[in-house]
Formats: sequence, C-alpha cells, structure tokens
Amino acid sequence: MEKPKFKTVQEVIASGEGLPERYLHTPTGDIESQPLDAPVPEMDIPAIDLILLLSPSDNGRQELTKLHSALSTWGVVQVMNHGMTEAFLEKIYELTKQFFALPTEEKQKYAREIGSIQGYGNDMILSDDQVLDWIDRLYLTTYPEDQRKLHFWPEIPAGFRETLHEYTMKQQVVIKQFFKGMARSLELDENCFLDMYGENAMMDTRFNLYPPCPRPDKVIGVKPHADGSAFTLLLPDKDVEGLQFLKDGKWYKAPIVPDTILINVGDQIEIMSNGIYKSPVHRVVTNREKERISVATFCVPGADQEIHPVEALVTETRPRLYKTVKKYVELYFEYYQQGRRPIEAAL
Ligand code: SIN
Ligand code: FE2
Repeated sequence: MEKPKFKTVQEVIASGEGLPERYLHTPTGDIESQPLDAPVPEMDIPAIDLILLLSPSDNGRQELTKLHSALSTWGVVQVMNHGMTEAFLEKIYELTKQFFALPTEEKQKYAREIGSIQGYGNDMILSDDQVLDWIDRLYLTTYPEDQRKLHFWPEIPAGFRETLHEYTMKQQVVIKQFFKGMARSLELDENCFLDMYGENAMMDTRFNLYPPCPRPDKVIGVKPHADGSAFTLLLPDKDVEGLQFLKDGKWYKAPIVPDTILINVGDQIEIMSNGIYKSPVHRVVTNREKERISVATFCVPGADQEIHPVEALVTETRPRLYKTVKKYVELYFEYYQQGRRPIEAAL
C-alpha cells in the first residue's frame, strides 16, 4: 500500500526548520478573535458515579438528575466507578507516551495509507489551504474485533496490543452502562438508545500527542468541532490542560479529575435525544513547555443502523428536530470537509 508523504509535528520539530506557515491561524470570527492561549474559566461539570446511575435508590435518582442537567447544558460529564483501576489507566498513558517516543522509522511502520483514516500520522490534510492542527496521532478501529487492522497496531512498546484489547473490553461495559443511564435520565426504556446503537456498533480509539508548541497564541492542537460519534470516552492528560468546551459563545477549560473518564455527547446522541442532550463544540489549545497526551474512543452506531429522535422525546412542545439518518459518520466527514456544520446533514 502506498504511504502518503507527510511530516508529523514531531518531525517538523526535529527538522529544525522553524514553525511552518501552515500551522498559523489568522483570527477571523468572533470566538477566534482572542489569542488562542488567552486564559479561560473552568467548566463546572459533575463527576457521575456510573454504578449509582443504574440503582433504583434515592441516590440513584439524584445521580440521574445530575447527569440530565450536565448533558442538557454542557454535554459533558466526568465518570467515576467505571471499573478501571488507577494502575490500569496509568498503563494506558505510559504505553501511549512510549509509542510516541519511539524513533520515527519505528512509528512509520504503522503510518496511515492513502484513503485510510487508520494508522499513525499527523492531522488529516483535506485541502491545500487548510491550517494544520498541532497534533500527531495513532487511530485504530478496536471493535468489533473482526474489523481490526492489526498491521496498524504497534508491536512495540511491549504490551500495547494486549492493553488496548483489554481497554476496549472494559470500555464496552462502560458504554452499555452509560447508554442505559442516559435513557433512564430521560425517563425512557433503558435499552432504547442501545437498540439504535446496535449489536454491530464500532469503536475507534485515537491516541493523541500534542508536542510543546512555540506559538500557543496562534497554533491550535485541534480546531473547534463537535464529535460525529454517539458519544466519546476520553482520557485527558493527567497534568497538562488543553481541552476546552464552548458554551453560550464562550470557551471553558475541562477540569482535570484524577481517575475519571470524561464523556462528551456526540452528534448521534444529540439526534437520538431530539436535541435535549448537546453535542458540544470543543477544541484543544497548545502548550509552550509541556507535551500533552490524550486517548479518545469514539462509540459509533453500526453502519446499517438507522438513527433518529426517540419517539417519546418528540412532543407538541418539542417538535422533531432531526431526520432519520444512516452512516452518519460518512455524512459528517462530507460536511466537515465542505466547512459546514456536520449535524446539519440530519436537519
Ligand atoms: C478531540 O476532541 O479531538 C481531542 C480531545 C483531547 O485531546 O483532549
Ligand atoms: Fe473531539
């Protein structure tokens, strides 16, 4: 397979060529008019106990109320009691760090192929005039198992493949619980989102590296976007901030809460919940001194699943906002590439 020619951010830095123009933003619209590194306030989102979400007790009901309030405003929560130990999460961070620290030739063995999103590389280049994100990444489909392209799965560092498999299986449990919790929080049958998600649902995990950046005021880690998934599970860096969410036209930074997993709603839950749960716009800013690492898993309904607003959430006072769509992720990329807001594909 032909490999595309690209320089990762790590290679740009190693070449000593300075900061290429292609990474520099010229502020345009309102929310972009401030320097990218301007200080922003912290968002106020709850930590949700995943087990309590499914409990019929009073505490369980309170947890559902907390979830409802956070997802209908921010579209984001931290999740605790997710069944993964601190040591296990630590191992994922460590292996991610070790992978990106490998020599270029070793990482290039897993380089993306033309026309494929999977593998190791830089920001995807979709147009000639695109300003590039300051990010290197390794993108892998992890579920269902027969969809894995193992030639992109690093053999070094030792234990990477096994740990990713284990992480995928543990996330499966969290995903099911979270879908049920969301349904319960909307007073729906607990399987109604899961049924639309389908047995053939997919998971993609993206390992992200944001190297230190000489111009955090003008260079962005990830441009503002909302996710095309049902929802996304994220392990943000444990020490270095960078992830920010947009609410009412203002940016807020995500707090760092040890041992939790951050979950943000994606467009497909916004559609299924008839707009009650929000798929938030978010971005990642860069840091002058420190590298940042994160691991994001996108939960995507099976390609042949039709998704649509749940009937019970369509009422006289809340008319149906979105149409029925299939293969939303394909529409998402089409719209994204045209510079349009992807969820408009479901209007
Ligand atoms: C993303 O939303 O694309 C990345 C999130 C992160 O690195 O924290
Ligand atoms: Fe995202």
